[in-house]
Amino acid sequence: MAVPNGASAAVLLRSEPIPTNYVSVKGPDFEKSMSLQDFLQSYTRIGFQATSFGTAVDIVNRMRNWRLSDEPLTEDEADEYRSPEVRSEIKCNVFLGYTSNLISSGLRENILYLVKHKHVAAVVTTAGGIEEDFIKCLGDTYLADFNLDGADLRRRGMNRIGNLIIPNDNYCKFEDWLTPILDAMLAEQKETGQVWTPSRFIRRLGKEINNEESVYYWAYKNDIPVFCPALTDGSIGDMIYFHSFKNPGLILDIVQDIRELNEKSRKSVKAGMIILGGGVCKHQIANAMLIRNGADYSVFINTGQEFDGSDSGARPDEAISWGKIRAGAETVKVFADATLVFPMLVAATFAKDSQTS
Ligand SMILES: NC(=O)c1ccc[n+]([C@@H]2O[C@H](COP(=O)([O-])OP(=O)(O)OC[C@H]3O[C@@H](n4cnc5c(N)ncnc54)[C@H](O)[C@@H]3O)[C@@H](O)[C@H]2O)c1
Repeated sequence: MAVPNGASAAVLLRSEPIPTNYVSVKGPDFEKSMSLQDFLQSYTRIGFQATSFGTAVDIVNRMRNWRLSDEPLTEDEADEYRSPEVRSEIKCNVFLGYTSNLISSGLRENILYLVKHKHVAAVVTTAGGIEEDFIKCLGDTYLADFNLDGADLRRRGMNRIGNLIIPNDNYCKFEDWLTPILDAMLAEQKETGQVWTPSRFIRRLGKEINNEESVYYWAYKNDIPVFCPALTDGSIGDMIYFHSFKNPGLILDIVQDIRELNEKSRKSVKAGMIILGGGVCKHQIANAMLIRNGADYSVFINTGQEFDGSDSGARPDEAISWGKIRAGAETVKVFADATLVFPMLVAATFAKDSQTS
């Protein structure tokens, strides 16, 4: 019996010729020996989020390799940027953002690497992202389990962040460390009349901790500003609250900080965002980019979804509509847990040259 005509035409529809720029899907071949870099490169052709990861690697490499000398000299170029020597020194300013939990995780050491080696120009995070770095210098955070019982942990003085736990004693040590620093900062404020800002507060703590295992020690050493608009939403807020009874008067001025962050963005000849997670750290950087009519490069890694209209879940295209990313900018969103992806991204980009294969 003959195959019904319409059915075969529907199933066996002929394709157009394949465009020459199409790349075929292919996974890593473990039959061959592979360097770390070859392995990471192989993600590009796997598809789905692996391919988005490959795009993120390309964008970050372009961000870090860009120099003003790559661009033709235009007639209206400012005098300060006309000399070839100066142009070859001007880099893209990378604005790095991350949620608090990532400092609790081992991504702290990845972030430290970037700050220590001056790969970023400014950092934005939330309160936990500040305090957990210092607290880790005073006591360890431990691997545990997502399913531990909350009431039992509370009885034992253990706090859970996902599958990590932090003994409550660490926060007691944090108070013992922080309170005299708050006293000294208040005394200096009274003496000089100069109020503090969250970024200067973090810089001071980085100086005080004097510990090479701290991200903010390196930010202090390398003069990299760290912004935390919601600095009170964590243990630091609890300590500031207690301190305000014992020794009132400390002022943290967020106006000076928003000016510094926005000016840093405005004066960036080229600007890129690398943002892990969502919320304040994501939007505060994107909002600062608006001041310069949008970022030139943007890499988002987060698990947020856009169906609820959240900024956390918004794809780069939504930020383009607001002028926070330039139309035509190189952008990608990798939908993934940053703890899985970011170490690989750093290995394939900023840390590439220090890797042995
Ligand atoms: N360790 C902590 O998480 C901690 C500690 C103290 C205070 N806080 C406070 O809680 C508040 C909320 O925290 P937040 O704004 O830092 O972020 P958050 O934890 O609320 O996360 C915001 C969004 O980022 C994304 N995200 C978070 N973790 C991710 C990951 N591992 N990979 C990919 N995407 C991820 C998710 O979409 C999430 O909805 C802040 O004010 C913070 O200071 C948090």
